[in-house]
Amino acid sequence: MRALVLDAYGLSPRGMDLPKPSPGKGQVRVRVRATSVNPIDWKQASGMFRPILGARFPGFVPGYDLAGEVDEVGPGVSGFTPGQRVHARLSGSAAGANAEYALAGVDALQQLPDSVDFAAGAGLPLAGMTALQGLRDVCGLPLTGATGRVLVVGASGGVGHYAVQLARHAGAHVSAVCSGRNAALVRRLGAQEVVDYTQADAFSGVAPFNAILDCVGVPVGEYLPRLLPGGCFASCLPGPSVFAHGLLNGLRGKKVRPVLLKGNAVDLGVLGGLASAGKLETVVDSRFPAGQLAAAWERSRTGRAVGKIIVEF
Ligand SMILES: NC(=O)c1ccc[n+]([C@@H]2O[C@H](COP(=O)([O-])OP(=O)(O)OC[C@H]3O[C@@H](n4cnc5c(N)ncnc54)[C@H](OP(=O)(O)O)[C@@H]3O)[C@@H](O)[C@H]2O)c1
Repeated sequence: MRALVLDAYGLSPRGMDLPKPSPGKGQVRVRVRATSVNPIDWKQASGMFRPILGARFPGFVPGYDLAGEVDEVGPGVSGFTPGQRVHARLSGSAAGANAEYALAGVDALQQLPDSVDFAAGAGLPLAGMTALQGLRDVCGLPLTGATGRVLVVGASGGVGHYAVQLARHAGAHVSAVCSGRNAALVRRLGAQEVVDYTQADAFSGVAPFNAILDCVGVPVGEYLPRLLPGGCFASCLPGPSVFAHGLLNGLRGKKVRPVLLKGNAVDLGVLGGLASAGKLETVVDSRFPAGQLAAAWERSRTGRAVGKIIVEF
């Protein structure tokens, strides 16, 4: 099978032929039709997270998000049959999505509804589950009912554009931080208020929030005054300042918490259900053929992607 492979840390995966992987116990081999780029892909490939998320060389196949069809099921697998449309966020640090065939554990694999195409199926897993878990599990939003004021920082990106829709679907009043060029898009996705971070005094006159989901890595201290007492600041880029503010502000009644994705088939099912019901759109920033994974990463590295970058196999 053709695969995109790295034999050392770097940002230029090359196409090469590898043997088709055999599904082990509890695994399914998927014929990959689309993958999506997440910043973790090129961060891991570059060696940025070497101590916590190293890559195994030679023959490292990057990528965590995929959509495709079941090709073969391993021992002990029930509920999946060859030809079935599926999608997954691959678990562990081995990655492996950017190949014609990839192995997924059944705990990570979900049926892809017929009405959801492979691009959306590949876009949803990592970014969608991060948005869902950040809002629901970290900020405590119910998926139905009024939940107060929610601010999504980085609202036009992969995680952010799903978060805007999920928060609105949860009944929240949604405010979105993005640049002016993306304002119309985030309004269409459900934001009732847009804060253009490129303007001076962008937050002037904006009321405080019950929850802030940071998909950019903004300075926590600058955003805490915008959080109501009892509110939660959830960071998708948790560094030392998030943990320090978490300790300090916990005492003052404001929560500052990391979002740490836990990929699982159940949450993927929630997202697929919303997508097939027309309540969760995947905005596609750009599409690349598989051979151009390096160019897709380059686009992601600009930090300007609007929605998801899709790689098609
Ligand atoms: N902790 C976890 O488990 C977890 C899971 C998923 C992702 N992440 C991390 O979360 C981050 C976001 O991921 P992603 O996939 O959403 O990234 P992305 O798609 O690359 O985000 C790009 C978006 O960020 C916006 N942006 C850039 N600077 C901004 C600013 N100062 N204020 C507001 N918006 C800004 C850009 O809009 P403009 O062009 O308008 O600026 C663009 O639309 C990444 O660092 C990723 O590694 C963490």
